[in-house]
Amino acid sequence: MRTQELVERPHSVDVPEEMQGSVYHQEGNTYGSKKFYIESYGCQMNFSDSEIVASILSKEGYSSTADIFEADLVLINTCSVREKAEDTIRKRLEYYKQVKKTNKDMLVGVLGCMAERMKKALLEEEKLVDIVVGPDAYRDLPNLISRSAEGSRQINVLLSREETYADISPVRLDSNGVSAFISIMRGCDNMCSFCVVPFTRGRERSRDAHSIVSEAQDLFNNGYREVTLLGQNVDSYKWKSADGNEHVNFAELLEMVAKINPLLRIRFSTSHPKDITDDVLYTMAKYENICKYIHLPVQSGSSRILRLMNRTYDADWYRSKVNRIYEIMPDCAISSDIIAGFCTETEEEHRESVKMIDFAKYTMSYMFYYSERPGTPAAKKLPDDIPNEVKIRRLNEIIEKQREVSAAVNKQDEGKTFKILIDGLSKKSDSQMKGRTTQNKVVVFDIHPYYKIGDYAMVKITGSTTATLFGEIIPEKN
Ligand code: SAH
Ligand code: SF4
Ligand code: F3S
Repeated sequence: MRTQELVERPHSVDVPEEMQGSVYHQEGNTYGSKKFYIESYGCQMNFSDSEIVASILSKEGYSSTADIFEADLVLINTCSVREKAEDTIRKRLEYYKQVKKTNKDMLVGVLGCMAERMKKALLEEEKLVDIVVGPDAYRDLPNLISRSAEGSRQINVLLSREETYADISPVRLDSNGVSAFISIMRGCDNMCSFCVVPFTRGRERSRDAHSIVSEAQDLFNNGYREVTLLGQNVDSYKWKSADGNEHVNFAELLEMVAKINPLLRIRFSTSHPKDITDDVLYTMAKYENICKYIHLPVQSGSSRILRLMNRTYDADWYRSKVNRIYEIMPDCAISSDIIAGFCTETEEEHRESVKMIDFAKYTMSYMFYYSERPGTPAAKKLPDDIPNEVKIRRLNEIIEKQREVSAAVNKQDEGKTFKILIDGLSKKSDSQMKGRTTQNKVVVFDIHPYYKIGDYAMVKITGSTTATLFGEIIPEKN
């Protein structure tokens, strides 16, 4: 439905995960004779996984291509989080069917969460799919590819309690050479009632802390200046060495990565409000290079709805967490995820979500209306009883409030000077560059001859919109 498409797009420059389809290709990787083409959908974890897949394939002699028509292998890394995400994937599979008519030997593989959720049914439903691989089975890809090239369709959707791909060096795809993702854990042990992720990603497990630090160090040595530590719930990161002598929690991991070099910025995502500790907040405050930005999804502003969602905190508890963050780091930015129209939500409860945006002063939010996912606790136990048009109207009210708050908090930045990391050229103008503040706000400014991508610069903010700050460089170099 058109209106749904329009309203589900959030106001900010950050596009909701499932809409960020991206074609990956690696320049200059010409050593393989066979070519793969990969598209990724969903959250950052999926984008990071595609880099692991690229690494596994490059060891098999594959090189990547951005041209689907010259690919021997077409892969799509999929998301199941909302129905619309899966619809997008189905449309892409339709398109691949057309492409396959021009290249009968081309293999099509479905990776990621939809592969895991649908398993064999995907092979039955989508006749052109040759390979189905779940998120914990990517090491098996070479076997599955060679067997499917012999003519039989292949599937591996086994979930693992140990797999973290710790020893695999991701091949950086579509990279700006400045920022990279590092996956620090996999899976999720929470059971938010609306969410399909625990079913598609399996049990939570943390990656060897030293492999994380050495990946970050390598990135820094190669010129990268920002890493984002990724997990569904990074604050519950907990790693123990095999001999049991060494224990590392998230605050300690943050410190280990922060110490690599003051010029390396550290971000992380996502924080579950129930798990973020004072230790994490104090560690953030202690290191200038740990960015003052927390994505702290509230999901709903109503305690009754939060209970139905099984989020394990209530609205007051969340508000006190927000207060604590601002108390320890007054300059910290907070963003959120909000779901409109969850099962049985009343108008009054909806208004509590709207109010939470004002209270927490989110710089931005990802906003969705509830989409029932098969097999989740909510699908089993709760009625999806809010009519579509009501969900859409509530979502629009949430988006409107977030716009207002984003505009107001951005306006307050005008006249101030921020240290930004320059990460690319402006999409809209050849004569402008862009970067981010520690608070993760995008700043656009005129190109300056002394500054290039990957440099830090002081920028004075001269204007703002709901999604972007505009400014000018205050040169420090000469
Ligand atoms: N691990 C992260 C979120 C992962 S999914 C966390 O706990 O915050 C990303 C977001 O998608 C969620 O925060 C939620 O807002 C949204 N989402 C998940 N399932 C959904 C559903 N069934 N309908 C609508 N939105 C959903
Ligand atoms: Fe889903 Fe909740 Fe886990 Fe996030 S914490 S991935 S919302 S179950
Ligand atoms: Fe989607 Fe899977 Fe991420 S369901 S949001 S790609 S963990």
